[in-house]
Amino acid sequence: MAKRRTGGDGAADGSVAGLIARCASALERSGACFGHGTDNARDEAAALVFHVLGLDHDDAQRAYRLPVAEAGLQRVAAMLDARISTRRPLPYLTGEAWFAGLPFFVDERVLVPRSPFAELITTRFEPWLDPDRVRRILEIGTGSGCMAIACALAFPGSRVVATDISAAALEVARRNVARHQVADRVQLLEADLYAGVTGTFDLIISNPPYVSAEEVATLPEEYRHEPVLALLSAEDGMATPARILQHATRFLAADGWLAMEVGGGAMLLEERFPSLPFLWPEFVHGGDGIALISAADLRASECPATP
Ligand SMILES: C[S@@+](CC[C@H](N)C(=O)[O-])C[C@H]1O[C@@H](n2cnc3c(N)ncnc32)[C@H](O)[C@@H]1O
Repeated sequence: MAKRRTGGDGAADGSVAGLIARCASALERSGACFGHGTDNARDEAAALVFHVLGLDHDDAQRAYRLPVAEAGLQRVAAMLDARISTRRPLPYLTGEAWFAGLPFFVDERVLVPRSPFAELITTRFEPWLDPDRVRRILEIGTGSGCMAIACALAFPGSRVVATDISAAALEVARRNVARHQVADRVQLLEADLYAGVTGTFDLIISNPPYVSAEEVATLPEEYRHEPVLALLSAEDGMATPARILQHATRFLAADGWLAMEVGGGAMLLEERFPSLPFLWPEFVHGGDGIALISAADLRASECPATP
């Protein structure tokens, strides 16, 4: 049997590592855009190869050295070709995205989960909230349900209400709620923001659409496969976040908190609501643009409610 070359990054050998290196080069040459779960060609290639070959990320060092059979090579080549020729984000091709350490089914009906909210949820919003006091959580714009479900699991004693205006997105969320066995604690509601929501909540979370039409028009091809409802917000992008903010006090418990992502719109939100003392957490795992504000501060500043 011929001896395999195993040096360097393994690019020339028949191992998993070599295959990942070749896929990464092809992705780089193609001009594909990364940002749907990975932020570079190498990580995206690894995700693709591990998924197709059914390899275990927890045993990656051993997996890298495994040889790849011809059938596996062909399956990887087919998915790589689909990724490059269609520019569909990889999670839509694999049907799976990871968020807060949990797997979620995804397709084109929902945004690919990637929010830095994952870090806030896994650290249970400390030090801002006392996790033991979080009983009722509301999510506005749940998409795949990833944030609502991750919250239900991070706060085992909690109940979560999650709204979305998209019936199609809620079908995906329903599937994920069943997968993670939280149907008894996560209620999905088809609604425009808070419509039909009753009661008050210890925590309101939202990753709403916050991209202006001008910006949407310049997004790379990959983002055009995502539902426009999940990205586009009127005016400078802050119209939907502003509506969420303006109605939040009605749904927040006295010591509750609102956490809302606005990404690169942080300055725009600050300018629109100069009297609100937003906090902007820093993230160990990257990302930014999540505003935190307490119910007390919202009430004190008399954030004007729109009809
Ligand atoms: C950026 S996606 C976030 C999805 C998910 N929370 C996540 O982080 O992956 C925004 C979601 O808000 C929903 N949405 C947009 N406008 C809405 C509205 N007026 N009321 C409720 N949901 C809305 C979209 O359908 C989409 O699922």
